[in-house]
Amino acid sequence: MRLALILLATGQSALEPHSRASREIATLWWWMFVIACVVFTGALGLLGLAWLRRRRAGVPGAGEDKPRLNLGLVIVFGIVIPVVVNVTLFVIANFVVIKQTEAPAATTTPITVEVAGRQWFWDVRYPGAHVVTANEIHIPARTRVNLVAVTGDVIHSFWVPQLNRKIDMIPGRRNRILLEADQPGRYRGQCAEFCGLEHAHMAMYVVVQEPADFQRWLRQQAAPAAPPTTPAQQAGERAFRDNGCGSCHTISGVPGATGRVGPDLTHVGSRSTLAALTLPNDADALAEWLRNPQHVKPGNRMPDIELSRRDVDSLVAYLGGLK
Ligand code: CUA
Repeated sequence: MRLALILLATGQSALEPHSRASREIATLWWWMFVIACVVFTGALGLLGLAWLRRRRAGVPGAGEDKPRLNLGLVIVFGIVIPVVVNVTLFVIANFVVIKQTEAPAATTTPITVEVAGRQWFWDVRYPGAHVVTANEIHIPARTRVNLVAVTGDVIHSFWVPQLNRKIDMIPGRRNRILLEADQPGRYRGQCAEFCGLEHAHMAMYVVVQEPADFQRWLRQQAAPAAPPTTPAQQAGERAFRDNGCGSCHTISGVPGATGRVGPDLTHVGSRSTLAALTLPNDADALAEWLRNPQHVKPGNRMPDIELSRRDVDSLVAYLGGLK
């Protein structure tokens, strides 16, 4: 219940569907809820009836030590109704809802996005467009997107409840799911499989844009990183190289910055959050992260390299400028 409240509060609820697939899921959920309510109320009603009747004198069986078994009632309410209800739900879930939420054949969608779950962020790639980003997946509205779900380490599970069901990210496998949204908006998602210490801090946004805006975004993301212009930014790029940040992070266009341990930072300044939605992406939060990443998100792969105050400030200027 508490989880349901949290999910509703964060706008991350399967009961606020924004795609055809998630509407199917929500409809099934409401049917299950209504049927469960009917069954529960019926069971309570029978219990109440039995309790009332046994207190009445003159009813067969009243006052006897051993109540008589009404075999007809047991068969109807104990076997027939549960079997009918469960088989019906099973058939609807498996042959209607699962079909509607299934991934399309890869060749029938205009866009493919490859998302890798990593401890603990989402590595997002647009094959063919040479775009790599993290934690914020942009897609065009009203467009079927083939999402390929892989993992770089352990099992994760990709779940954006307002758009579709979950899909597990399993080592050695390429699972797929359909992403499609009715209208532009920002939909929160969450890793749905326990994957270690920071599993709870492994969230992501799916940013749905009008197709023209999406194409503009894609072009901008495909460009190499903006060269530093201000002295602070230039000092930041030097600090990035001198501290060996490039062995873990890629910044396209910066020599030596080709690491793939952490998120791609080529356009990190254009994202709205840091560390898989753990922090907002502003100067204060970025400085906090650089000063003490293990305090912000204990156990993550970013080592505390004890950057000087000056390096932190210049890195903030540099990375913030990578729009
Ligand atoms: Cu990744 Cu839980």
